[in-house]
Amino acid sequence: MSEPTTIIVIGAGVIGLSTAVRLVSTLDHSNYKVVIVSKEWPMSIPGVPVTHSVNYASMWAGAHVRPIPASTPQLVREAAWLKRTVQVFEQQVQQSPAIGVTKCKGIELLESPAQDYAAQSAGSFAAQTGLTGYRKYTGSEVPEAFELAYEYDTYCINAPVYCGNLLRSFILQGGKCVQCVLTSEREAYSLVSNVGVVVNASGMGFGDPKCIPVRGQTVLTNFSAATKTVTRQSKDGSWSFIIPRFFQGGTIVGGTKEPGDYTAEPVMAIRDSLLGAGQQIAQLAVNENGPTGDMNVLADVVGRRPVREGGMRIEIEQLSATGAKAAPIVHAYGAGGRGFEISWGVAEEVADLVRSVLPTERTVIRSNL
Ligand SMILES: Cc1cc2nc3c(=O)[nH]c(=O)nc-3n(C[C@H](O)[C@H](O)[C@H](O)COP(=O)(O)OP(=O)(O)OC[C@H]3O[C@@H](n4cnc5c(N)ncnc54)[C@H](O)[C@@H]3O)c2cc1C
Ligand SMILES: *[C@@H]1O[C@H](CO)[C@@H](O)[C@H](O)[C@H]1NC(C)=O
Ligand SMILES: *[C@@H]1O[C@H](CO)[C@@H](O)[C@H](O)[C@H]1NC(C)=O
Repeated sequence: MSEPTTIIVIGAGVIGLSTAVRLVSTLDHSNYKVVIVSKEWPMSIPGVPVTHSVNYASMWAGAHVRPIPASTPQLVREAAWLKRTVQVFEQQVQQSPAIGVTKCKGIELLESPAQDYAAQSAGSFAAQTGLTGYRKYTGSEVPEAFELAYEYDTYCINAPVYCGNLLRSFILQGGKCVQCVLTSEREAYSLVSNVGVVVNASGMGFGDPKCIPVRGQTVLTNFSAATKTVTRQSKDGSWSFIIPRFFQGGTIVGGTKEPGDYTAEPVMAIRDSLLGAGQQIAQLAVNENGPTGDMNVLADVVGRRPVREGGMRIEIEQLSATGAKAAPIVHAYGAGGRGFEISWGVAEEVADLVRSVLPTERTVIRSNL
């Protein structure tokens, strides 16, 4: 029997983890091994002294599923990934209720909606997203100052809990982990023997001029009465959102979008304005007429969204021959502000590319997830 071929996934963010789970659950283990190589791992409990860098986006995300109308080629591509992810999240809610995904209502409030938001209907929304329950608010339901308000059924993800559970699932199914700060993808080929392909799910890294970090500051609060996620888009371009992190995770009140701002520390004036804006939409996040209760700060959150101009880079690159053979890399980075909600669509596309560079006669599909 020949030595199994190793597939290396660089990165333990939501993209690397989803891809690694997809691979380990679909490849034949007698022929293939899957190894995640990463600098940082999902071991975070927010509020406990921080051990993660601002660059590890997946630890800092809200995170909710919030569809954006598919009005550009990039958004059309992302909408298809989102729709697939919604199917998997629904399956996870049914079959693994403790994994970190919760189904809940999403509410959106827009002061000055763009045409593509205004044009949405229950039918077009469901067709594009796979999400049910879209309903435009009318009359007194629309809070003052807003031109458009609507709700739908969506999902909130407790980001650190969910990522930790993806990693546990990967390990249970036979996946292995290596701690390493890589300076080049080539280095991955030297870590273990018989590497067949490397997946570059390094988030943003550096070196691609199309990548630009977009700073997000939010506040983790103990506003535990929140059971719905609420998003407000204001005329001045600012955002305010509330995202419950079910499973004892508190509630995220956010948030900023600051392209190219490298400030790693939380800014106290921003914290204050986020909490002030959060209070204005807090009542909508709780159950009918329920008390809103406290919004005490548990932790300030600063993360960098790995935004890439034109969207994610998902493609095969053949590095020129190192030693005896050419080295294929499958790129999967640049998820921007949407890594969780597009994760499964991306993971399946990346896994298909991985399979396409492996000796196909040895590939066996073992399951759908
Ligand atoms: C404030 C905020 C709110 C957000 N809200 C949402 C939301 O509501 N919904 C949503 O879908 N998304 C949201 N996002 C976006 C989401 O967090 C990102 O899109 C997603 O986490 C990107 O995942 P990733 O796996 O590509 O990258 P990352 O999570 O950054 O992971 C990269 C991995 O690669 C490893 N790595 C990098 N370089 C190297 C190296 N040289 N050697 C070894 N390992 C390396 C890192 O250690 C890490 O494990 C939000 C982001 C922020 C910051
Ligand atoms: C791998 O991904 C990083 C982004 O994280 C990028 O900067 C780098 O250029 C990629 N590697 C190659 C060989 O393109
Ligand atoms: C939130 O924290 C405050 C201050 O620590 C505390 O008094 C309050 O009871 C907490 N609220 C909840 C819902 O736990």
